[in-house]
This record gives sequence, structure tokens and C-alpha cells, in this order.
Amino acid sequence: MKHILSIGQFSRRDIETIFDSISSLDYYPKDIFKGKKLATLFFEPSTRTRLSFEVAFTELGGSVVSVENAFDNSSNAKGESFLDTVKTISQYVDFIVFRHPGTNSAEEAANVANCHLINAGDGAGEHPTQALIDLFTIERYKPLDNLKVSIIGDINYARTIHSFTRALNKFNGVDIFNFDNFKGHKISDKDKAYFYDSDVIYMTRNQTERHNLVSVPSFDYLDLTYINKNAIVLHPLPRGNELDIRFDADPRAKYWEQVKNGVIVRKALLQYIFNA
Ligand code: NCD
Repeated sequence: MKHILSIGQFSRRDIETIFDSISSLDYYPKDIFKGKKLATLFFEPSTRTRLSFEVAFTELGGSVVSVENAFDNSSNAKGESFLDTVKTISQYVDFIVFRHPGTNSAEEAANVANCHLINAGDGAGEHPTQALIDLFTIERYKPLDNLKVSIIGDINYARTIHSFTRALNKFNGVDIFNFDNFKGHKISDKDKAYFYDSDVIYMTRNQTERHNLVSVPSFDYLDLTYINKNAIVLHPLPRGNELDIRFDADPRAKYWEQVKNGVIVRKALLQYIFNA
């Protein structure tokens, strides 16, 4: 059984192996998961993660069963523990893709699961498969070494930031500056210069479901338009008002490409787990 709980469990070489396999994916037999089943079990809302996993698995010949809004739509509503729910579903399927608001819930779930389990977001903890998509998207445009990265948003509570930062740190010479919307500090000219000179701008929405803090957004649409002409802007989505839709037309906006890459990267990851 191979569980994917944290991006920390991947070496740089593992990540490169997964990415390398993507170029040959078109040649893989499309029915590699024929007769196999995947369950998505989501205790928190999702559009991209759940549906891209489901599309990835079905496109590789497998079949999918899905529980979304699982607090209401599973026996959890009758008082069953999420661990019993996981243990039950794991008797039926080969993979569980799991999302839950509890930090460390994915690890707890993996400990009782009788099948491969993939963390699709554990509260403010991690979101390892999003980090793979983030790196893959960057690599379309820039080598992953020696990157200058500005991360903007809900630094403490956005799990995508936690996994993304850990993923970046596997590469050489990466320089990261966090612009925390909740620090309420004035941004110095030096920090601003860093932002405008970054190779990658990574934004997140405020995780309003996890706290009642009041944010002081660091940058706005106009600031974004002044970034380095070769920079790229990423956002795991969904967005709040931190990322103006007017920026979508800018060639440096790569977040819709990130969305698209979700299926191919998850296809490669599922095969990587299966072949491990
Ligand atoms: C993120 C998540 O669920 O952590 N969404 C995603 O999977 N792309 C980001 C978020 O909810 O802010």
C-alpha cells in the first residue's frame, strides 16, 4: 500500500520521475486501471481536485464512486467516525482520494485504510497533489532551480502554500518571500522590489472557513500588471477578490493552465502509486 500524505515524502528524483512519465502518458495503455476502483471521499468542498481525480482515473479505464459533502452524505451524519467511514470504503476500492478539515486527518485515515490513500487536503495541513501540479506548471516555463518566488495570501492557513513551499525547497537555490495578508504590516520598498522581480507569483484566497481574521491584501490588480515580463502567476483556485479576472487575459497568468494540468499530473501520480 502506498499512501500520499505529504509532498515531503517525495524526493526531487521522485518528482522528476513523475513528470518524465507525463510525456509518455499518451503511449500508455488507456485501460491500465480496468477493473480498478477509486473512491473520492470529500468532507470539504471541491471542484478541481475531486473532478480531476475522477476524470484522470476514468480516462485510464477505472471506475469511480464518489462521496462529496461527506459530513451530510455518508454515515458520518449518523455519528459514524470518519475513520470507520474510511475503513469501510477501503474494503470496496483500490484508491481513496480523501479531503477533510482536520490537520493530520489524512494520516489517521491512511492508518486504517486497506487501500492506497491520497491526501487531497487535510485542513490547514497539506495538499501534496496540488504542489505537484504547481511545480509541473512552473516547469513548462522555467527550470525549477534558482527560482525567486513571491507567495501572497493566507500563509498560515493555506495548505497549498505549505505543500508548495516544501516542494520548492527540494530544488537548488530557491528563494521564497512570503507576503502574509494577515500580518497587517506595511510592505517596504525592498519587499516590493522583490515582488516585482520575482520569477513566480503564487497567490491564494483567504481561508475564511478556518479563521475570522481580517486581511490586509498585499497587492492588487495594478501591482500585478507591473511584475517582471517573464514572471508567471499561479493560483490553486478558487479565487477570492485577491485576483482580478481582468488579469486572466495577461500572458503571465498561468492559473487556468494549472487547472488543466490537474488531470495529466494526477494520471501520472496514480500510475506512480500503482506501480510502486
Ligand atoms: C485549494 C484547497 O482546497 O486547498 N483548492 C484546490 O484544491 N485547488 C485552495 C483553496 O481552497 O483555497
